[in-house]
Amino acid sequence: MSTTEIFQDRMLSLGLARVSEAAALASARLVGNGDEKAADQAAVNAMREQLNMLDIAGVVVIGEGERDEAPMLYIGEEVGTGNGPGVDIALDPLEGTTLTAKDMPNALTVIAMGPRGSMLHAPDVYMDKLAIGPGYAPGVVTLEMSPDERVLALAAAKGCDPSDITVCILERPRHEAVIASVRSTGAAIRLITDGDVAGVMHCAEPNTGIDMYMGEGGAPEGVLAAAALKCMGGQIYGRLLFRNDDERGRAAKAGITDLDRIYARDDMVTQDVIFAATGVTDGSILTAVQREPGWLTCETLLMRSKTGSVRRINYRTPVETV
Ligand code: FBP
Repeated sequence: MSTTEIFQDRMLSLGLARVSEAAALASARLVGNGDEKAADQAAVNAMREQLNMLDIAGVVVIGEGERDEAPMLYIGEEVGTGNGPGVDIALDPLEGTTLTAKDMPNALTVIAMGPRGSMLHAPDVYMDKLAIGPGYAPGVVTLEMSPDERVLALAAAKGCDPSDITVCILERPRHEAVIASVRSTGAAIRLITDGDVAGVMHCAEPNTGIDMYMGEGGAPEGVLAAAALKCMGGQIYGRLLFRNDDERGRAAKAGITDLDRIYARDDMVTQDVIFAATGVTDGSILTAVQREPGWLTCETLLMRSKTGSVRRINYRTPVETV
């Protein structure tokens, strides 16, 4: 492995888009067929195959799970040809397996890549998350604030009434108190059933109408969302949540010692990264894979944090190549 080679993110980014496209196209034929596992497996297989064509010495740091739970794209799996720079990879071949199975909005394939050591090795536990888009002073909202205080602080910073703020939250019983607190300010809430990487990205994407994301979701998804915001601008804070000793053990295995630490965006993603996401189902950020006789077309968002560049790539391919 040539881990000392320089991470040429400019050259690698188009390869990363291909990886993301392949996963989306593979899962597209399973959209709406009710089988979450089959859709996920198709995306995993395709993503892994494409990743292994890239000239990188890659290690999966955010993946499908621990080695004993996930046979492919598990945490620690080495990917790529081995002929190239040493890189860390965070991925979710299908973010929103249920959304895909039910053909609901905002299922994505997601992958981020950076130099070795650039991304937090977050264990598969929950994370309390708070995110806003670009243009605000650092720390204008914090995890220490109560949900209603966050709304009031953001409204003051934006120069609007709290009722003009919209917060995105995962619809879960565990969020009842958060939802009540946000509603007490008059702010609107967009409840989503799944897919909090997209939920966070909505804060930084113009015209989605979302100002802030908050609530508990997967920690791996938190790191992926941090990678997206590193490219798009915006703030995200996350604190790992542990329900039992097994989960604390996962943190220890990942080298995490301070279990109460609040991670800011640049603590989760410490160096410049590239990020790609492809729409699987229709959403407010990306369109679904389009099917027409003999052809498939997908849309990919490809971003580099070093330059702030954002590409939207439309890829059309004969169906038999997928
Ligand atoms: P999957 O794609 O693995 O099903 O995850 C979807 C998701 O909604 C994430 O976006 C989110 O972080 C997590 O699940 C929330 O977990 P839970 O469903 O346990 O509340």
